[in-house]
Amino acid sequence: MKQIRLSIDEMAAFCKRKGFIVKSGEIYGGFAGFWDYLFLGSELKRNIKDSWWKFNVRDREDVEGIDGAIITHPKVWKASGHVDSFIDHIVLNKKTKEKFKVDDFELDKYKNSKDYFVEGSFNSMFVTRVGPKGSKSSIAYLRPETAQSIFVNFKAVFEGARMKLPCGIAQMGKSFRNEIAPRNFLFRSREFDQMEIEYFIKPGMKCPYKIPKLKILVLASEDKKGKKLDLAEAYKKKIIKKDWHAYWLGQSLLWFKEFGCDLDNFRIRQHGKEELSHYSTDCWDLEYNFPFGWKELQGIADRGDFDLKQHEKFSNSKLGILDEDSNKRFLPSVVCEPSFGVERSLLVFLYEAYSLNKKGNVILKLDPKLAPVKVAIFPLIKKKEFEKISKDIFNNLKRKWNVNYDESGSVGRRYARNDEIGTPFCITIDDQTLKDKTVTIRERDSQEQKRVKVSEIVNVLDGLIFGEKTFKELS
Ligand code: GAP
Repeated sequence: MKQIRLSIDEMAAFCKRKGFIVKSGEIYGGFAGFWDYLFLGSELKRNIKDSWWKFNVRDREDVEGIDGAIITHPKVWKASGHVDSFIDHIVLNKKTKEKFKVDDFELDKYKNSKDYFVEGSFNSMFVTRVGPKGSKSSIAYLRPETAQSIFVNFKAVFEGARMKLPCGIAQMGKSFRNEIAPRNFLFRSREFDQMEIEYFIKPGMKCPYKIPKLKILVLASEDKKGKKLDLAEAYKKKIIKKDWHAYWLGQSLLWFKEFGCDLDNFRIRQHGKEELSHYSTDCWDLEYNFPFGWKELQGIADRGDFDLKQHEKFSNSKLGILDEDSNKRFLPSVVCEPSFGVERSLLVFLYEAYSLNKKGNVILKLDPKLAPVKVAIFPLIKKKEFEKISKDIFNNLKRKWNVNYDESGSVGRRYARNDEIGTPFCITIDDQTLKDKTVTIRERDSQEQKRVKVSEIVNVLDGLIFGEKTFKELS
């Protein structure tokens, strides 16, 4: 099997053709920056989010999750600095007439160039009105990041869940940014999902967790080329200043590795001073080598106590917690904020999976846990008794997973259709099924088949999907 790098437009065309993702309002010509997830895309996205939640919340004792409102209290955005500082500058390329956004630190470069024109600045939060029409309605914003409801609920969660530092609060959900130039398919959207953790420590606390043993291309802020280093080595050499950063970058990389991604396509890059957001003192991005270049997948900022301090000031609430040693109240520090975009992760999983077999057919080798359809069931003979046993198997499996039932076309076509959408296992019901109550299970990646008893299908698939057993290990 050979991995193929599609252009981003080819990937968008593939997603549309197969029923993953289309432009929102496609029949009206599409709505720039907004996307609709169809029957396969919605399952894939859900599986990515569930696996992130399991890895970062359920499987950890030090992280709790929340689910805050999208239209957050407007004062939150004043306190967080978004009302005053979440500003994009619109730049026009005079020759191509293309418009794009630039950050504060890049502005002078364009102001001083005769090839560009700086059209102005605007706040990229979406504004809405809450309440009945007229003077009684008030302005509110669709959240541009999920992080803020973590900060405003910090104390309630910390005390309610009886947490101890160091600890994290996670959230995933919709965020909205009125991007000047949404582009590269899902990569820069106006509506997208984020998966974020705010990780709190007592200032100065060391990381008690082992830094994962992973080699990765590391670019410190002044370094343009970078060096492949083990994360622990990069920390030891003080290229990564904080053990927490090395640890959380490692956790994110481990998550991608668990789903079969090749870490040679990833790198970590530190922000230069001028690139840092108004709230952060250090930030490392996890980047992926997309067909349109190395781009940000995740930012991991050190936000310190900026946000809790701001919310204390603007809300007049006390957000500090008790230090058991000194019996004094203090504000915890957010040493790391791993902040992922779901859409960008989804693109990475599609790029890593898109392959061709020797015959030139597409095999989408998604990890079975992420695959939108886990199993496809093919009755090979169109007779009542075959249909009955096939439907019984289908009904039994669909209580656990998203399952396809496919009785049309040659079996070769049915396999090919499912390979292309990433279905990891296909079951056929044939002559022998009626004789000895066995079926064939075929694995997508090896294209090998084995016979399994009908009564054992669920157990066998459970082991295969969750990686507790390999196909080779089946007798
Ligand atoms: N709370 C911090 C924060 O929001 P960010 O770097 O602005 O930081 C975090 O965003 C992540 O959200 C990015 O790394 C990216 O994966 C995703 N993201 C941001 N803007 C996006 C957009 N317009 N379209 C898709 N994903 C986006």
